[in-house]
Amino acid sequence: MRKYLGYNYLAYNLMTTQEGLWEQISRKICVLCGQNGGLELSHRLILEKGRDFVCKGEKSCQSYLKKQKSMECGYPIGLFGQRLGKVWPEMTAGDIQELIEAFGLAAQRAKKAGFDGVQIHAAHGYLMNQFLSPLFNKRSDAYGGSVENRYQILREVLKKIRSRVGSGFPVLIKLNSQDFVERGLTLEDSLKIGRLLQEDGIDAIELSGGTFQSGQLMPSRVGITNEEKEAYFLEAAKVFKETIKVPLILVGGIRSLPVAQRIIEQGWADYISMSRPFIRESGLIKRWKSGDPRKASCLSDNQCFGPAMAGEGIYCVVEKKEKQKVPERS
Ligand SMILES: Cc1cc2nc3c(=O)[nH]c(=O)nc-3n(C[C@H](O)[C@H](O)[C@H](O)COP(=O)(O)O)c2cc1C
Ligand code: SF4
Repeated sequence: MRKYLGYNYLAYNLMTTQEGLWEQISRKICVLCGQNGGLELSHRLILEKGRDFVCKGEKSCQSYLKKQKSMECGYPIGLFGQRLGKVWPEMTAGDIQELIEAFGLAAQRAKKAGFDGVQIHAAHGYLMNQFLSPLFNKRSDAYGGSVENRYQILREVLKKIRSRVGSGFPVLIKLNSQDFVERGLTLEDSLKIGRLLQEDGIDAIELSGGTFQSGQLMPSRVGITNEEKEAYFLEAAKVFKETIKVPLILVGGIRSLPVAQRIIEQGWADYISMSRPFIRESGLIKRWKSGDPRKASCLSDNQCFGPAMAGEGIYCVVEKKEKQKVPERS
């Protein structure tokens, strides 16, 4: 794995079976970043449903949802309130096996398309996180109950991915340090899961936290106005680093070069990861490297979620508004 400071990935729905699409996506990433990147394998359905988790090959979940005029596919319980209180049928053993197989095939496609590695999304309240979380996971079979049981599906997903991509291909995971919701995943359980992932051969853990039900403690927190508010999962990272030996990637609110450097120099994490700063300023790392150490210009106001949720792609809304204000010079 390359030791670059910023860790960049693009997330696409893993369930598409349009083989050619992966090559197109891969080429686009190469053009955008000037290098290959990792692909995040994400599944966003609610835990209990699982019936129609094969994506219909839409451009995005949002475009599918727009057509369906419902929340049938794409997001966990209650993300926008539509699903609260609705009871879905529990995934059957067959559904679970199908899901595990789909993760394996997605990783294989990603490798074939030229990605450097894959990352399993097991954070932010999405499906893998829901299996890990006692709040969502009410199963009474081998996939529910103890933390080891709640982890079982991830063990099988990881094993399946390995069997599809071989031993030399990086397989990472994005994991919640805590869910920050009542009865959700705790730091203690997350640490246990980190140890199990290590035993099972994960290549790196990206540590995050929160869900869309976590209020102010959601994964993309707002109002990061000073260095004290940056790196909001740092204390959890320190706990992980005490026992977990696989490379740790810290995400969440990193905005300043001194903060980023301190995290690496102190050994609190092995890599740092940023999201919104690159939406605002894709050349941020180049700027820092060129000797301009000013902090990222992202305001951490989350306006970029607007176009993302509307299926319009991801861009910095603040920047767009600023550009619209400046009259074009001829
Ligand atoms: C518009 C938008 C879309 C995001 N989509 C994903 C995603 O698909 N997968 C993921 O793991 N995190 C996603 N995130 C969360 C970020 O990866 C990151 O964990 C979070 O924003 C905290 O990091 P930051 O403070 O550097 O932005 C998204 C964030 C934003 C703002
Ligand atoms: S809209 Fe722009 S400034 Fe606001 S959080 Fe997103 S990237 Fe940062």
